[in-house]
Amino acid sequence: MTQVQHPENSGNHVPIVEWLLPSPNICEKKFEFCGHLLNISRYFGGNLGFAASIWESALVLCQYFEQEKIDFSGRKVIELGSGTGIVGILAVLLGGDVTMTDQENALSQIEHNVSTNIPSASRHRSKVCALSWGKDHMKFPTDYDVILGSDIVYASLAYPLLLKTLLHLSNEPTIIYLCSKLREGNQSSRFHEKLLPQHFNCQLVHRVEDKDINVYKISKLSATTRDDPLM
Ligand SMILES: C[S@@+](CC[C@H](N)C(=O)[O-])C[C@H]1O[C@@H](n2cnc3c(N)ncnc32)[C@H](O)[C@@H]1O
Repeated sequence: MTQVQHPENSGNHVPIVEWLLPSPNICEKKFEFCGHLLNISRYFGGNLGFAASIWESALVLCQYFEQEKIDFSGRKVIELGSGTGIVGILAVLLGGDVTMTDQENALSQIEHNVSTNIPSASRHRSKVCALSWGKDHMKFPTDYDVILGSDIVYASLAYPLLLKTLLHLSNEPTIIYLCSKLREGNQSSRFHEKLLPQHFNCQLVHRVEDKDINVYKISKLSATTRDDPLM
């Protein structure tokens, strides 16, 4: 096995080591959050695009759960754009009943990580499903307690679809945690400062200054204060 450094390495939790496995198309990395050791695989060569990386925002969101001692016990949770599934898997390990979603081509990678990291006794609290924003969202319930998303605000063409999806999945008590890297040119600040606030209360709850990564805690405005939704 070969040990390699990876450019995504960041922060105290990011290790450790990355192994190129006997299969050249899978690489594994270990993390520790909230006392749980996670062994996350990424598939290459499967046309997974952005889903084939563990993005820094995912690690920042996991660190935020740890710092805030967030407990998902008894909570119905959905994660959008799960990628490798690291955030959703941690939410299951922290007690949640979690549906991890992404586009169809990323699902086998998430399923693999679910089977590696979630003990069979807790696996009934995890589900992996295709959800393409603005297309499949209506197949999902509207009463999630928590919605999670790390680095899903990065392509401005998708923002209306993402907004539509968040509006459908949430109700006023729903808590949405979005962790976003603010990149120049993709209008992610505009999404958080202009588009979202038309429908949601948005609170910046954590920031990693040197990486320009923000964690937002978001809840739906009451129907009377909300602008006309995009449904
Ligand atoms: C930058 S990656 C972040 C992955 C993961 N959340 C993380 O932080 O490591 C963006 C994710 O959003 C997913 N995605 C992009 N557009 C999407 C869409 N229209 N519907 C559903 N998922 C989408 C991608 O497949 C990818 O997994």
